[in-house]
Amino acid sequence: MKKRSIPITKANYLINHGPTVLITSGTEERDNIMTLAWQMPASGNPVRLAISVAPERFSHELITQGKAFGVNLPTIQLYKTVLLCGSQSGREIDKFKRSGLTRMAAKKIPCPLIRECVAHIECRLVNAWNAGDHTIFLGEVVAACADEDAFNSHLQLNNNIQTLHHMGGPYFAHPLGVKELTI
Ligand SMILES: Cc1cc2nc3c(=O)[nH]c(=O)nc-3n(C[C@H](O)[C@H](O)[C@H](O)COP(=O)(O)O)c2cc1C
Repeated sequence: MKKRSIPITKANYLINHGPTVLITSGTEERDNIMTLAWQMPASGNPVRLAISVAPERFSHELITQGKAFGVNLPTIQLYKTVLLCGSQSGREIDKFKRSGLTRMAAKKIPCPLIRECVAHIECRLVNAWNAGDHTIFLGEVVAACADEDAFNSHLQLNNNIQTLHHMGGPYFAHPLGVKELTI
């Protein structure tokens, strides 16, 4: 197969197919939502995940102060909200109010979760590294829940649930469903 050269600045797009998520941070007095594509599982034992957040984001300030964040999984039905929360800062607007999303109390962290999302992971911040123009926040998973009909018993996404996968700029892909592939 002939290969085409990819600019280094776009190289991350080649592997960045994981779902775009909505990160919640802060407390009852001052909370926030931001859209985030750069997320990844980081450790199985203890269970930890990493998110990459630019220092200028309001969420960066809230996660650093509060030492916790929520990871919420939106479906394609919420694409307008995903774009809103990824283009406006919580410094200027209340994104819960503007989007019409509903706060849902988390079990173990002070940040609210987003009821309209299909899955939720609560994380306590355990470390942070300067990665360049983003900070990598490492979160320890302290609780998780999901809509009963969103995942099957093996935690595979049910075929009627379409998550959003950022492909750069305004482009998103969504999976066609879980398939067992064999050679
Ligand atoms: C699809 C999409 C994915 C994004 N992914 C990230 C990301 O991984 N990290 C990041 O720092 N900002 C990301 N952003 C930008 C932030 O969501 C955006 O700057 C947001 O307004 C920050 O909000 P805040 O200032 O209220 O925290 C993304 C935006 C969009 C639309």
